[in-house]
Amino acid sequence: MCGIVGYIGNKQAADILVEGLSRLEYRGYDSAGIAVYGEDGLKIVKTMGRMDDLRKNLNEFGKPVGSVGIGHTRWATHGEPSDINSHPHKIGRVTLVHNGIIENYVTLKKALADAGRTFISSTDTEVAVQLIDSLYNGDPLAAITAALEQLHGSYAFGILFDDIPDTIYAVRKDSPLVVGLGEGENFIASDIPAVLKYTREYILIEEKEIAIIRRDGVKILDVKGNEIKKDTFKASWDIEAAEKGGYPHFMLKEIHEQPKTLRATISPRLQNGPAGILKEEIDDTLKMERLLIVACGSAMHTGLLGKNAIEKLARVPVDVHIASEFRYSDPIMKQGDAMIIISQSGETADSIAALRLAKQRGIPVYAIVNVVGSTIAREADYVIYTWAGPEIAVATTKAYSAQAATLYMLALRMAVDRKTISDERANQLFNALNELPDKVAEILDNNMAHYEKLAAMNKDVHDLFYIGRGQDYALCCEGSLKLKEISYMHSEAYAAGELKHGTISLVTEGVPVVAVATDDSITEKTISNIKEVKARGAFVIYVCKKGAAAEGDFYDALIELPVTDEVLMPIVAIVPLQSYAYYTAVCKGCDVDKPRNLAKSVTVE
Ligand code: G6P
Repeated sequence: MCGIVGYIGNKQAADILVEGLSRLEYRGYDSAGIAVYGEDGLKIVKTMGRMDDLRKNLNEFGKPVGSVGIGHTRWATHGEPSDINSHPHKIGRVTLVHNGIIENYVTLKKALADAGRTFISSTDTEVAVQLIDSLYNGDPLAAITAALEQLHGSYAFGILFDDIPDTIYAVRKDSPLVVGLGEGENFIASDIPAVLKYTREYILIEEKEIAIIRRDGVKILDVKGNEIKKDTFKASWDIEAAEKGGYPHFMLKEIHEQPKTLRATISPRLQNGPAGILKEEIDDTLKMERLLIVACGSAMHTGLLGKNAIEKLARVPVDVHIASEFRYSDPIMKQGDAMIIISQSGETADSIAALRLAKQRGIPVYAIVNVVGSTIAREADYVIYTWAGPEIAVATTKAYSAQAATLYMLALRMAVDRKTISDERANQLFNALNELPDKVAEILDNNMAHYEKLAAMNKDVHDLFYIGRGQDYALCCEGSLKLKEISYMHSEAYAAGELKHGTISLVTEGVPVVAVATDDSITEKTISNIKEVKARGAFVIYVCKKGAAAEGDFYDALIELPVTDEVLMPIVAIVPLQSYAYYTAVCKGCDVDKPRNLAKSVTVE
């Protein structure tokens, strides 16, 4: 996870590094640090804690003066969060920041220690810096290349050498890193928003390439030292999109952006009728005999929604897999299968590994990705971008709904191609997709105070359950995850009918149960299950279509949803669940945008 920024130019590097790191804090936030070359050599300021702690230190002990530097925000993997384990790490003449995991660090550490080297920290990163320093005889390229031959695992490195203080070196493998190009100044960053304030032009470093970054230019070499000509990309995200825009938290801002981001994701794909949906990205869906959807976290939950819709509409079997399980399960993949990888960041290590496995087996890979130019986007055979824009809050909201909308578009297109639904039904769904952003706007315009009140009522409970059937169960998985991620409240999602096989024993007087019923065909069954928990004292929050709240005494609070096509209801229904989780976390005084122990982009296994 971890965020890296580097700067070389004529401005004060410390300011630019701190600014850039603040934008990358979602990648990790248990410690932060910068290293800057000035007239008196290299100065490092680093600390356990957040960017605010680093800022405090810089104010107290003085900002390093100089115009070349590297910085880092950490999400600890090897070695607990501490000042000493924070990056940058400096050994001898070499200073380095790292994102990733050096998998063979134990063996390398032993060999380096046997050779007389003393280790200061308990990080895998220090092994890399010790190794490069041990191999450094004044030729940085030779030292880096030799070190890369020995390092296994994933890394993005920003490296400085004391005797070459006007150059930053950068390399990567399986962890993201871009080079930002400015006028008389250049940058490195884990992610574009870190440097958007200064430049939109960037190049991507590929594996086995070494970037040499100076004030007046950037060179990319292969491991043999040959210069490589690289394409330059232009970021279209604007800086405001990566800022809070008046909202107290990024999460709330991103919840409110959903009408806009859904429109951006859906509209361009609805220009040529139901049969033309996603035509630019996929020319033939008929080859897909079985789909394997592989993803992590919330992206996997959208996969569950996708399975429901694709199987229902297009009658194509879909298996949904957790990426970290998939790769080690000796998965069956055969001719006619296609894989869909869903990822906001496009950098999730386990999802990347699943993608590579499918490609090795000759299975076509379709990626539903938000970050343009990310690893998954680059390596997949076909990319369908969600146009949700930069998502900063760790808990995903707008990327989730954009992914779900994309899967619904795919389901409709597949059904049209296969003629498994009538033209009339296809047009109905097509029109409903078109109107979906307005339905979501309707919720945001009218109901937030209600969700806030409900959250305040239940903020002190210990357990909370989400129940639903079919697509509503898939939705409950996401609602429950949102709540536990940011409010630290224990919650579980259950298929409503399964509750009585064990979990109902946890339902006692006052335990909140959020019951979701958006699918008319099974609502009656869900209501029976709600009655079972109500009879045991549960405080039931019933989530249903507007006007569909059957008379009865089986709920204590009601969340009504604007009505759209049944298949699309989860996108409408997720908004109250996201908002409920958000307000619960706020009531409990939690750090909503940066929940403890979590990171937005999970680039380690
Ligand atoms: C982390 C994030 C989740 C996200 C998951 C997968 O756990 O906190 O919000 O769903 O990673 O990330 P991806 O970038 O692949 O969608």
